[in-house]
Amino acid sequence: MGDLAAIILAAGKGTRMKSDLVKVMHPLAGAPMVAWPVEAARQAGTSRMVLVVGHQADTIREHFAGTEQVAFALQEEQLGTGHAVASAAAALGGFTGRVLILCGDVPLIRPETLRGMIDAHGATGAALTVLTTRLENPFGYGRIIRGFDGRVIRIVEEKDATPEERGRREVNAGIYCADAAFLFGAVTRIGNDNAQGEYYLTDIVTMANEQGLRCTAHAVADPVEVMGVNDRAQLAEAGRFARQRINRELMLDGVTIVDPAATYIDRGAVVGRDTTVHPGVHLSGETRIGEGCTIEQGAVIKGSTLGNGCVVEPGAVIRSCRLGSRVMVKAGSVMEDAIIHDQTAIGPMAHLRPGTELMAHVKIGNFVETKKITMGEGSKASHLTYLGDASIGSNVNVGCGTITCNYDGVRKHRTVIEDDVFVGSDVQFVAPVTIGRNSLIAAGTTVTRDVPPDSLAIARAPQVNKDGWKLKQRDQ
Ligand code: UD1
Ligand code: CA
Repeated sequence: MGDLAAIILAAGKGTRMKSDLVKVMHPLAGAPMVAWPVEAARQAGTSRMVLVVGHQADTIREHFAGTEQVAFALQEEQLGTGHAVASAAAALGGFTGRVLILCGDVPLIRPETLRGMIDAHGATGAALTVLTTRLENPFGYGRIIRGFDGRVIRIVEEKDATPEERGRREVNAGIYCADAAFLFGAVTRIGNDNAQGEYYLTDIVTMANEQGLRCTAHAVADPVEVMGVNDRAQLAEAGRFARQRINRELMLDGVTIVDPAATYIDRGAVVGRDTTVHPGVHLSGETRIGEGCTIEQGAVIKGSTLGNGCVVEPGAVIRSCRLGSRVMVKAGSVMEDAIIHDQTAIGPMAHLRPGTELMAHVKIGNFVETKKITMGEGSKASHLTYLGDASIGSNVNVGCGTITCNYDGVRKHRTVIEDDVFVGSDVQFVAPVTIGRNSLIAAGTTVTRDVPPDSLAIARAPQVNKDGWKLKQRDQ
């Protein structure tokens, strides 16, 4: 559909948000509000899009930089919606198809609805089609004034309306489909003789009628789709609807969501079928969860990929990680920038810091902290351990209380532990140090020199027993 373009109005400040951030960049289920209509327009089949920006134009530009189809038009002064569309004309110079007009603060419009409007526009032969809905409380919206034959003859803004007009319930959603030739001819001729002294886009309805062109309304049944967000209360309300929609789609695709009202899944997250998501879970960023996983209460997963059959227990935090299949992340574990291969078990209360890579069948137990390490297949560190700047081979057992002393106060140094090494409890590796394969480090050893393969390293003071010492102490 090369003949469809979109203009998205996003130059306003959004005073009622009372925010340092421009309104349309406030996040709604993980994506800036304005990204929602942009995506809806794209899915409706546009070939190009112009975002009209003004307030914090650079913030918006930066967000969409490199996004296919999206161009920008700067509206330096916000003189009204008509002026905003006129500002986009140059960016669509020579375009002769149909133009969709959307608002950056009407995020929940669905692509199906836009397609319905575009089809109706074609079918009725209108030059302008306005999306409308009926509201119980139409306050603040432009009212649709229809002629006897049902055509739309005028839109009147709340502030300009007579009491009789204000009583009408059919409102302008602020979303339109127009023929480019008519639209760009009309917007340059809009005046600002009205209650707000603004150039109202809605005046093009009257202009179409004056030119003998057809202007029709396309009604949308669900007012949620055309809900405008002006303050943070409405933002939260829109967020609730957005999440409902996301959760519903996932459920229909085979995901069990135990309590959708208490589950926070951002737009764009992918969840495989037969995965169960418990209440209080947050899935955000580019997150992909495989099939048959269980994500328990309050887990927070951001920008991460999980394979199939993973279990994430309550309160775990997983950020920017890649997990293979059947990985078990136990309660309260925190992991960031880590790569975790199949069938590993982590936690409870483990802390995997950036640069951790665990190969298959690794076990990291409670109160274990890792940073910049690789750990080979089948290796274990089951309790109370710090492993930083280390390469650990496969089938290594790291005893409880082991510490890699990686920092000398100036520089970081590496510890290398080769395959099949057994590290007893309470061992310190004063890096740099290398432990040859199949060696044994005795409990309590402070390792300061390399250990050759197949050896025993032991460094601890011989034990002295003083017979009857305690009794003598009492007799004194
Ligand atoms: C507008 C409509 C109203 C409709 C309502 C639906 C007009 C005159 N009125 O009113 O009929 O019922 O939307 O939500 O069009 N913007 C710019 N530049 C400007 C002014 C606005 O880019 O100079 C952008 C805003 O950032 C916003 C959108 O256009 O995203 C709508 O503007 P807003 O001022 O909120 O219009 P409403 O008063 O809501
Ligand atoms: Ca508005």
